[in-house]
Amino acid sequence: MAETAILQVDGQSYELPVITGTEGERAIDISSLRSTTGMITLDDGYGNTGSCESAITFIDGEKGILRYRGVPIEDLATRSSFIEAAELLIFGELPDPEERDEFRQLLTENSALHRDMRKHFDGFPADAHPMAILSAMINALQAYDLPEIHITDSGGFRRAAAALLAKTRTIAAASYKSHIGQPIAYPRYDLPYAENFLHMMFSVPYRDYVPSPEVAHALNMFLVLHADHEQNCSTSTVRMVASGGANLFASVSAGVNALWGPKHGGANMAVVEMLQRIQSDGIPVSRYIDQAKDRSSGVRLMGFGHRIYRNFDPRAQILKTAAHDLLESMQIKDPLLDIAQQVEEAALADDYFRERRLYPNVDFYSGIILRAIGIPTDMFTVMFSIGRTPGWIAHWKEVHDNEAQRIHRPRQIYVGEPLTQWLPPAER
Ligand code: CMC
Repeated sequence: MAETAILQVDGQSYELPVITGTEGERAIDISSLRSTTGMITLDDGYGNTGSCESAITFIDGEKGILRYRGVPIEDLATRSSFIEAAELLIFGELPDPEERDEFRQLLTENSALHRDMRKHFDGFPADAHPMAILSAMINALQAYDLPEIHITDSGGFRRAAAALLAKTRTIAAASYKSHIGQPIAYPRYDLPYAENFLHMMFSVPYRDYVPSPEVAHALNMFLVLHADHEQNCSTSTVRMVASGGANLFASVSAGVNALWGPKHGGANMAVVEMLQRIQSDGIPVSRYIDQAKDRSSGVRLMGFGHRIYRNFDPRAQILKTAAHDLLESMQIKDPLLDIAQQVEEAALADDYFRERRLYPNVDFYSGIILRAIGIPTDMFTVMFSIGRTPGWIAHWKEVHDNEAQRIHRPRQIYVGEPLTQWLPPAER
């Protein structure tokens, strides 16, 4: 017999179905709650609310498990590549060699921007934040690309997905080049994804930039680890926008904006700024930790804490080792890595962080890697966006393909003024 939960309210009993996911996660299905009881549920911040059923990513926050389409993140981070992980997320399975080649060809063919789009870069002020440029340009892509792409057939969708992945990388590098006043570097057709991005970022007309294999590997790993994280703030935004029927580019552009905030993707930038402040102002680590514990200080320990992970974030563990390996291979000594380790040790030994189960998250060590690669701090959240694009595309597709999809439209409990009379200005 199917399992049910009993809700008792106003002296009445209601039976609600209990549903179970493939990894044993359980939920009470309340989709008929309002029609049968007249009530809604209230869950500010959605900490207890499943917004959808999804077959893309599985997280067990207690055990520190993260899997894309069932494949453990540890295998993907160390043995796969960003584009292979992207294909897995977007199309549902690891590509065979033929699919791999075909998708790589699509990426190559779609990596350049429409010539007229280049004019847009001149319209932004020199100090415009690269996230503002990225979201605006991704939104603009639909004007240049969508008319030709029949997104509803599977070939058209493959091309749209490839175009978005390839052009997001081109836009990101072009926004950096515009910002520093250098000519935009064209994508090269012979380079893999990560190497091509580094070429567009750091090549200049008189010298090609060639990354070491260790740098290319570290960037690939960074991108794989950011590729999806189920119903986080930006992905939920993409799904919300997509549920209204918005196109792929408009939906992903909304995701970029949602990612920007310091509690979400902006945290990687905030971590490095925090470590730099501790270093330049000579703040003892213990004093900084005390400030982060004091709510009235307005200070948080950036790169610490996660809504889902309560014991460790597997991505943070992989990135910590990767940061050490990269710095060693490049023979760099970054004082911020030492400070980061001191902060981590001090926080993990402190009752405040232990009781609240706050651990380093993906953003804590990622900035050290990006700095070593030469990525400027204000581009860090853009790097997160490039990494998260496959996840956003996969979730857009899941919404788009669901014939039973309803528009996302939560309800609320109104706590404002009761019925109030309108008064003419002179009587107010
Ligand atoms: N430093 C100090 N105190 C913290 C921190 C922190 N980083 N994170 C949570 N707390 C405290 C918080 O003050 C609260 O304390 P109390 O119970 O006394 O009121 C308790 O821990 C629970 O925090 P919360 O804000 O209710 O937890 P949340 O699940 O709503 O927020 C979070 C999760 C990630 C937004 C939060 O931990 C945070 O702001 N961390 C710092 C920013 C950060 O690193 N963000 C990146 C997240 S991972 C990548 C991503 O999603 O983009």
